[in-house]
Amino acid sequence: MADPKFESLIVAVDQGTSSTRVLIFSSKTAELITYHQTEISQKFPKEGWCEEDPKEILSSVYVCIDKAVQNLKALGIASSNIKAIGITNQRETTIVWDKITGEPLYNAIVWLDGRTATTVDSLVSKTPKQTKEHLQPKCGLPISTYFSAVKLRWLLDNETAVQTALQDGRLMFGTVDTWLLWNMTGGLNGGVYITDVTNASRTMLMNVHSLKWDSDLCKFFDVPMSILPEIRSSSEIYGCLSEGPLKGLPISGILGDQQAALVGQACFKRGQVKNTYGTGCFMLYNTGSEAVMSEHGLLTTVAYKLGKDAPVCYALEGSVAIAGAAVRWLRDNLGIIEKSSDIEKLASTVESPHGCYFVPAFSGLFCPYWQPDARGTICGLTQFTNKAHIARACLEAVCFQSRELLDAMNQDSGIPISSIQVDGGMTENTLLMQLQADLAGIPVVRPSMPETTALGAAMAAGNAEVRHSMPETTAIGAAMAAGTAEVRPSMPETTALGAAMAAGNAEGVAVWSLK
Ligand code: G3P
Repeated sequence: MADPKFESLIVAVDQGTSSTRVLIFSSKTAELITYHQTEISQKFPKEGWCEEDPKEILSSVYVCIDKAVQNLKALGIASSNIKAIGITNQRETTIVWDKITGEPLYNAIVWLDGRTATTVDSLVSKTPKQTKEHLQPKCGLPISTYFSAVKLRWLLDNETAVQTALQDGRLMFGTVDTWLLWNMTGGLNGGVYITDVTNASRTMLMNVHSLKWDSDLCKFFDVPMSILPEIRSSSEIYGCLSEGPLKGLPISGILGDQQAALVGQACFKRGQVKNTYGTGCFMLYNTGSEAVMSEHGLLTTVAYKLGKDAPVCYALEGSVAIAGAAVRWLRDNLGIIEKSSDIEKLASTVESPHGCYFVPAFSGLFCPYWQPDARGTICGLTQFTNKAHIARACLEAVCFQSRELLDAMNQDSGIPISSIQVDGGMTENTLLMQLQADLAGIPVVRPSMPETTALGAAMAAGNAEVRHSMPETTAIGAAMAAGTAEVRPSMPETTALGAAMAAGNAEGVAVWSLK
C-alpha cells in the first residue's frame, strides 16, 4: 500500500487489568490502523483477593501481537513497516518469579487485591505516629493495600516458595512491565530486568525526588534492594523482542497505563487533567517539574520522563479502585446485563436511580479515604427498584467517585478545574459522560481517538532513539483536539449533587461523606 502514513508504524502493548490489547499506530499521523484484544481471567480465591496468572498475561500479549500483525497483513500493509514497540500496563500488580527456572512463584497479586489490610495495619503501627502518611514525603504515597511493596511484604511473610527463593538468591520481583519486558527480551536467555520510573513510582520503594530505589523505604518494608529491577526512563531502547512475527524490533517505551493516558491525551502542560475510566478510575493532574504533596488524599506520582536525559514530570493522582469493575460485577455476579456495553441501554430506560445508591467499595476505598476495610453497599431500595435503577446507580457511582477526585484536586491546587479530558472504554457510554458532566458541573471532553493509553505508549516508544519518531506532540495534541466531543453539564450541578451528597452522607455510606 503506497500511503505514506503506513510506512512507519509503532506497536503499543496495552496490558490492562481486564484485558490485553495490541494496537498498531501510524507514527506519521497517530492514527490507529488495527488492533487485537483479549480478556484476562481473574481469580478471586478469597473475599477481597484478586489474582491473575502471570503466564496468561504473557501469552495474551503474544496472541495479541500475532493477531494484530495478521490484521495488518490483511489490510495489505507489511509488518516490516513496524519500527518499535511500546508497553503500557496495569500498575502496582505484583509478580515474583524464579531466576533459575523463569517460573512464577505465585499468581500476580492484582493492584485492587485487599488481602494486605493486616499487613498495612502492622506497617502503620511501626511508624512513629502510627500514620499511613509517614512515607509520603519520600515516595508520595500512603501505606495502602494498593501498592507493590505491601504486596511483596505479604508474599515474603506468607509464601514459603518466595521465602526460599529469597534465601537462595533466586527471587525476582516486578510489576507487570518488568515481567513482560524480561520475558519478551529473552527471559532466561538474557532477558532485560528493568522497570520504568512511572511504574517504580507506584511501588513505595522509589524515592519520588531522586527517582532511585530508596534504602530507607526498602528497610522499612524489609525488602532487599538486590531483588529490585533497574529503574530506567519511560522512553529509551531497553532491548529487542526475542520471538514472534516482530522478533528483533526494539522495545523503546514503557509507561504505567494511567501515565500513558496522560501522554496520549497530550496533557504536557502543568494544570492539564485527564480522567480514565477503566477497571478503576484514575484522574491525573500534571504538576510539571514539582512533586506536589497532597493534603487531600491524592497521590504524588511520576507522570513521565521521556528519555534518559529528559526532565521528569510529576502528577497528582486520584485513584478509584472500582469503576468498570462494578459494571463487570453487574454482568458476572448479578447477571443483570449480558455485555458490559448493555448497561447504557438499561440505565437509559429510567430517568433516575429513584433514590438508589450504589457504593462499589469492593476492595475498600482508595482516594481520598484510604480505608481498606470499607465495603460496598446498595442502599435506598424500595419495592419499586428494578435492575435499571441499579444499573443507573452504578453509573452514577463512577461519576460521584470521580467528582470526589476533582474536589480533592481543586482543594490541593486552589484553582478550580474548568474541564476534564476523559478516555478509557467506558467513555463510549454517552449517558455516563452526561452524568459525569452533570455531577462534576464542568464539561467533559472526549478525544476523537479513545485509545489514548496505547497512543501514549506508542509515543514514548517512537520518541526514543529509534529512526522513526511519532509526530510532534503538539501535532498530536492538535489532531486529537480536532475531533474531540465536549459533553456539557445539562443541569445546575448543585441540585443533583446536593441530593446525592445528602444520601451518601447517611450512616454506613462512607463514600461521599460531607466534611
Ligand atoms: O493502578 C491501577 C491501574 O493502572 C489499572 O488500570 O486500566 O487496568 O483499570 P486499568
